[in-house]
Amino acid sequence: MKTLIVYGSKYGYTESCAGKLKDMIKGEVTVANAKDKIRNVEEYDNVLIGGSIYMTMPNKHVKAFAQKKTKVLLGKKVGLFLCCGGVDKFDEFLAKTFPAEIIESAHAKECFGGKMNKENMSGFHKKIVEMVEQDKSQPPMQCLEENIEKLAAKFNL
Ligand SMILES: Cc1cc2nc3c(=O)[nH]c(=O)nc-3n(C[C@H](O)[C@H](O)[C@H](O)COP(=O)(O)O)c2cc1C
Repeated sequence: MKTLIVYGSKYGYTESCAGKLKDMIKGEVTVANAKDKIRNVEEYDNVLIGGSIYMTMPNKHVKAFAQKKTKVLLGKKVGLFLCCGGVDKFDEFLAKTFPAEIIESAHAKECFGGKMNKENMSGFHKKIVEMVEQDKSQPPMQCLEENIEKLAAKFNL
């Protein structure tokens, strides 16, 4: 079995989730950043694609990859994942990121929650994070590591 994992990440959480998925999935697994040129998608049995959400918007490279490769992806076993704070908005964010036919035919979809890696953030993003952290009416952001395992398990059957 050959698996391709394509991810889009701004500050590293989605990238780390893609790395964990790689370690959990059996067989030959390749991880690629959606902003790079990704060739030979046809060669893989499974393709897992995921990105993070900023200001309610999807990662543009992940969106472009899914759009460009829709035809080939429809013939594969596809897994979709997103990293975001708004776990309750998962379906809304999926619809913004992936074409409807890919969402409908996907073998599995999981939300991995979110993590704010403040160290590398731009000043503007850091300010937003500090504002969000001060708003105690919102539940704190959480990493849903168990959902990484859940997604991997569905590709190890
Ligand atoms: C400036 C900023 C804006 C964000 N906007 C949203 C948002 O609109 N909705 C959401 O659910 N999560 C939002 N998040 C949370 C990110 O999706 C989350 O931190 C994610 O894990 C980032 O992944 P990355 O490190 O791979 O880029 C935001 C985070 C930051 C720093």
